[in-house]
Amino acid sequence: MRISVIGCGYLGAVHAACMAKLGHDVVGIDVDEQKISELSRGRAPFFEPGLENLLQEVQSTGRLRFATEFAAAEGSSVHFICVGTPQKKGENGADLTFVDAATSALLQHLSPGDIVVGKSTVPVGTAGRLVAVVKQAQPEADLLWNPEFLREGHAVSDTLLPDRLVYGVDGGSEDHRSVEVLDQVYASALEAGIPRLITDLPTAELVKTAANSFLATKISFINAMAELCDAAGADVSLLADAIGLDDRIGRKFLNAGIGFGGGCLPKDIRAFMARAGELGADQALTFLREVDAINMRRRTRVVELTRELCGGSLLGQRITVLGAAFKPESDDVRDSPALSIAAQLQLQGADVTVTDPEALANAARRFPELHYEKSTGTALKDADAILLLTEWQEYRDLDPYETAYSVAYKRVLDGRNVLDARKWRAAGWTYRGLGRP
Ligand code: UDX
Repeated sequence: MRISVIGCGYLGAVHAACMAKLGHDVVGIDVDEQKISELSRGRAPFFEPGLENLLQEVQSTGRLRFATEFAAAEGSSVHFICVGTPQKKGENGADLTFVDAATSALLQHLSPGDIVVGKSTVPVGTAGRLVAVVKQAQPEADLLWNPEFLREGHAVSDTLLPDRLVYGVDGGSEDHRSVEVLDQVYASALEAGIPRLITDLPTAELVKTAANSFLATKISFINAMAELCDAAGADVSLLADAIGLDDRIGRKFLNAGIGFGGGCLPKDIRAFMARAGELGADQALTFLREVDAINMRRRTRVVELTRELCGGSLLGQRITVLGAAFKPESDDVRDSPALSIAAQLQLQGADVTVTDPEALANAARRFPELHYEKSTGTALKDADAILLLTEWQEYRDLDPYETAYSVAYKRVLDGRNVLDARKWRAAGWTYRGLGRP
């Protein structure tokens, strides 16, 4: 099939490459010339495991190209909208500028029979509004919503073999013409037995925000338990193991620590609350305000714990922060709790050095006032305290005995509860976890 993918960020670039991998003829379109130039050379403009190899593999087949002009979408019969929906400045709601701009730029290039497939995370009601926009420009084209559930760091495998496919179609009927077209796009996933659900448009939009809200709630739940464990002298990691064995609860997403960040969870729960308010259903989601508050409290808690760890004052303390990305296997620093903590420590007088295997360039753009160091060894040198804030494997693997030679004081704060506390203490470290005695 001939496919266009509008927006080549974390979502679109991966989607374009994966669609080509599935055998389709794909053009990726983005207004960012730098991004398009890198992608055209087979280079991933951001760090995502497996993406660069995949880009090179599919580009050599001639099935994937990139362009900055919307006219390149002409001739494709399926057009995926994969642009960002960031949080509006100073408000909770989602900024739909890019979705609206992408849809309207596409209109003049639509042919009868084309389908426009929204993948971006949008407030419920957006797709219904865009159906009318598309129909007005091209009455024989359709728009459906097919939310994306990929996780950064696993984006390629999540796109090729997702947990489920959700098709939101106008009216919600299985007989909708575009269902068959989308089935052809996803033929290999469907053959592999991936469940496919057909819904109406608002349900499909809500599936995405509901899923992310549930995940955020799960993380904040365990972080609330960590607060209690701290107060009661209990261990939240063991608590999570024990409750997680009940398969109605499950152990996944019950890792207490510095909380969630990234380009999705935080802004999605806020946009969801804002939209619920517009719909007069704000009471239904007031609990998400608490989920958000628990999450933000983690960051202040870590700053306070670091102060304690340093003997009561942060002034002049050399703090090494291990990890800047919002999670491992990513260079994404959007709303990264690690970076936000690093910046707060610096503001309060500490001398902060941040290291990360992939995210330093992005981090330096966001917080130029922090000091960045590529080498872990150099970053650790003469530290008064080290904070593990993003659980990259190389930080999990640090040896407490070897690390002790680098630092000035053996103080470690394990913001992700991934280190073996007993081993670090045995090596003479003052170890602090979150919600761990
Ligand atoms: C999320 C959803 O998982 C994905 O389905 C959706 O499509 C986009 O949003 P992503 O933002 O890539 O994906 O990251 P995710 O793996 O969900 O992690 C989000 C944040 O939660 C990270 O900062 C991570 O460190 C944190 N987290 C995750 C925890 O603090 N504890 C956990 O137990 C799990």
